[in-house]
Amino acid sequence: MKTFIEPFKIKAVEPIQMTTRAQREQKIREAGLNPFLLRAEDVIIDLLTDSGTSAMSSEQWAAMMRGDESYAGARSWFRFEAAVQEIFGFKHVIPTHQGRAAERILFGTVLKPKQTVINNTHFDTTRGNIEFLGGRAVDLVVEEGKDPAHEAPFKGNMDTDKLRSAIKEIGPAQIPLVMITVTNNSGGGQPVSMENIRQVSQIAHENGIPFYIDACRFAENAYFIKKREPGYADRPVKEIVKEMFSYADGCTMSAKKDALANIGGFLCCNDDELAKKEQELLIITEGYSTYGGLAGRDMDAIAVGLHEVLEEDYLEYRTRSTAYVANALTARGIPVVKPAGGHAVYLDARGIVPHIPPLQYPGWSLSVELYLEAGVRGVEIGTVMFGYDPETDSEKPAAMDLVRLAIPRRVYTQSHMDYVVEAVENVHKRRTSVKGLKIVSAPRFLRHFTARFDWV
Ligand code: F0G
Repeated sequence: MKTFIEPFKIKAVEPIQMTTRAQREQKIREAGLNPFLLRAEDVIIDLLTDSGTSAMSSEQWAAMMRGDESYAGARSWFRFEAAVQEIFGFKHVIPTHQGRAAERILFGTVLKPKQTVINNTHFDTTRGNIEFLGGRAVDLVVEEGKDPAHEAPFKGNMDTDKLRSAIKEIGPAQIPLVMITVTNNSGGGQPVSMENIRQVSQIAHENGIPFYIDACRFAENAYFIKKREPGYADRPVKEIVKEMFSYADGCTMSAKKDALANIGGFLCCNDDELAKKEQELLIITEGYSTYGGLAGRDMDAIAVGLHEVLEEDYLEYRTRSTAYVANALTARGIPVVKPAGGHAVYLDARGIVPHIPPLQYPGWSLSVELYLEAGVRGVEIGTVMFGYDPETDSEKPAAMDLVRLAIPRRVYTQSHMDYVVEAVENVHKRRTSVKGLKIVSAPRFLRHFTARFDWV
């Protein structure tokens, strides 16, 4: 069969409220031209994020009913801990209410002011947590990872030569961690190869620096390794995951992505002393060590989701349906980041609206146009998100200006995606009339969430 179908049936549905262009003009104006400030009911297809937006399976809902809400030592906790240990292989598991809480606890424990954390590309909350504690976040993704049009299998890799020079320049004592984000969300959702994980781990360890993985989209990354890296085609995804994490000293995880849950996260490590310190901080700020910020039922949903996300029919559907959108856009001459990532399609805004300079936020402007056109909500990954340096209170263009259309897991059908493709195509046809933006007001950290804009 040529047609590849969603490998599930739909048991519960959620209505979508349709809107007119005139209604959307009013809504986005009221939101200060910031899609984050829209009400979800005013969005037709919501591709703002794949985080916490998954549809849970009947097995996950059944597991929710088994949730044990005991404060300490709940059955749900032991099922959660066992699933995480089995899949990732770490000794200590620290439950958190989401990924950024794991980051805060990790950096709050290991990072001192002025120290540097190196990553392929820090996600915004990871960078935010490091900078908030007075640290510095350095991104060392390979050069090809910054060129949207370049086709390569592992554009999320870290540049190992640059890593070696950075360690030499900064000094290992000033680098509490080297991290790698799989897949590289802020760099187009591109995967990292096993070889790169192995090399980065080796370089970090040669210098006595712990190596961590930001595991948010670990299953998608593992599936790309299976499909693209020589030697892995016949290995079960579960084994590939085990190998990936065998090179790391710990990980941070948002269960809102590849655990197919609506909330949750965790932090793992093998170091007993470190785990003790992290647990102290956890108890003060998140919750007791056997639930973090989570309800028992949430831990059960995650325990089931972590296994379901490794099913290869699911991963084949997941990666193929994302590629379906990217290929449809490419066929219409619309520049997207190539090849397609796992969880999202990224429009190359500088390629689509080259008349808008980066400091007039071409990606942001394009995301506003998509909403106006068809009620589709995407998110800018570009100069608004990454261009501002709070240290110097100055602004410079980000490496790329992209619009991420993140695809929630198991939520939308192919006809929803055809609608999205048509929306992008319509905006693309009138692209020369799209205008740049200026910021009217913005906070110092993570400005994209609440900034307000106007057209130039
Ligand atoms: N790391 C990565 C790579 C992420 O993509 C995210 C979240 C986090 C950490 C933080 O996890 O949201 O559970 O606190 N990314 C979401 C997104 C928000 O839309 O890409 P969190």
